[in-house]
Amino acid sequence: MKRKVYAIILASGKGERLNYSIPKQFIKIAGKTIIEHTIDTFQKNPLIDEIFIVIEPSFRNHMEEILLHNSYTKISKILNGGATRRESSSIGVNSVPENDAKILIHDAVRPFISNDIINECVAALDKYNAIDVAIPATDTIIKINSLNCIETIPERKFMMQGQTPQAFNSAVIKEAHSLALKDNNETVTDDCGLILKYKLADVFVVKGETRNIKITYIEDVVYADKLFQLQNEILNCELDPSEMKNKVIVIFGASKGIGKAVSELAKSCGAKIHGYSRETGVDVSSYLDVEKTLKEVNQKENSIDFVINTAAVLRIGKIEDRSILDLEEEIRINYMGSINVVKAAIPYLKKSEGGILLFTSSSYTRGRALYSSYSSAKAAIVNFVQAAAEELLPYKIRINAINPERTATPMRFTNFGNEPAGSLLQPEKVAEASLTALLSDMTGQVIYVRK
Ligand code: CTP
Ligand code: MG
Repeated sequence: MKRKVYAIILASGKGERLNYSIPKQFIKIAGKTIIEHTIDTFQKNPLIDEIFIVIEPSFRNHMEEILLHNSYTKISKILNGGATRRESSSIGVNSVPENDAKILIHDAVRPFISNDIINECVAALDKYNAIDVAIPATDTIIKINSLNCIETIPERKFMMQGQTPQAFNSAVIKEAHSLALKDNNETVTDDCGLILKYKLADVFVVKGETRNIKITYIEDVVYADKLFQLQNEILNCELDPSEMKNKVIVIFGASKGIGKAVSELAKSCGAKIHGYSRETGVDVSSYLDVEKTLKEVNQKENSIDFVINTAAVLRIGKIEDRSILDLEEEIRINYMGSINVVKAAIPYLKKSEGGILLFTSSSYTRGRALYSSYSSAKAAIVNFVQAAAEELLPYKIRINAINPERTATPMRFTNFGNEPAGSLLQPEKVAEASLTALLSDMTGQVIYVRK
């Protein structure tokens, strides 16, 4: 008979080492709080039956607010945690009614937990009563004494770094916590540590992943942000054309390059495309133009599902040589253009719970000489997308930025001339990634598109 599988997500810590204004599990990365990323994976994994969240009591309301914006069907308990991780874990474990269930205990602050690790833990519990997840130690581990001198240097090939989840047969882990409660000398914080201390079972080690990091210090937040970007690169390759059928899409900058390719691909999938550009008299740097355009489309179609802004200009030149009017105009098109499109689109997308796509460039992470205004506007767009994603989340509107590698577009050709054949990304590839991103549930992210 299939044993029930519980995931206990520990989120009762205060994040003192990170020292942020809120506990680290509530910091937003890539459009969602860290704990939401973590819950998402357990929610979507078919092997998990129920999820318990163990929360710091003063953040209970905060957690409930977050849950309101989601439709998690597996969360069955929100428990008040304790002063130590062990107490929080014990509270979670003792709330599992069955004595033959499988329990996975996971840190809320490990948002990169993969399905592979979850699946392996669940499977290993058919053979073992206790499971740890670990990766080989990368640094040499040294053991010191109370005088801060090295006592021993264990051989590195036997050293591993522990991660979570840790997984247990419910009867065994309940027993471990009940022994710990009676044990006045108990200092072990780790659940597997309790199993070993009271000699309750062999602890089998499942292979962890280097990306399954625990957010502990502020540097980990920066790293996590980058990891989400890399993850998106992998996500963006499968387009289901049938999902685009009859979607109403407004594209600004549709006459050339990427905008044109997106238009053509979406049309071939059966979407209803409304494309505009300065050639058709719509200038994204004019809020009134954008507002009027969207209003007209909505009158005609009765709804708007997606809005895309690919309109941009690239003008090369030294800051000292270019006129202030020229610099301003470039920023109005490249940056204000995107703000105008987003602001004007919100009322329609609220109704359709639709999506917005903006475009950034690889120069956003580092300003480039001779195109300072272009690259800084592209950096601003990324920051704007992150902020807008948070504001629009309650309306279920998603917004992302596509970051294409150097792409074979007329804009590129005008500025850089003929480049070696094959060195440029084709606009069709960017179009495919763009439509896939629009249909996905991701938000607040920069989606890299490479050859
Ligand atoms: N945790 C918990 N209850 C506690 C302490 C920790 O549920 N009393 C959880 C944390 O929320 C976190 C996980 O255990 O998801 C790992 O702990 P850690 O990284 O130490 O988090 P914090 O205790 O919040 O951080 P710090 O130690 O820096 O204060
Ligand atoms: Mg801690």
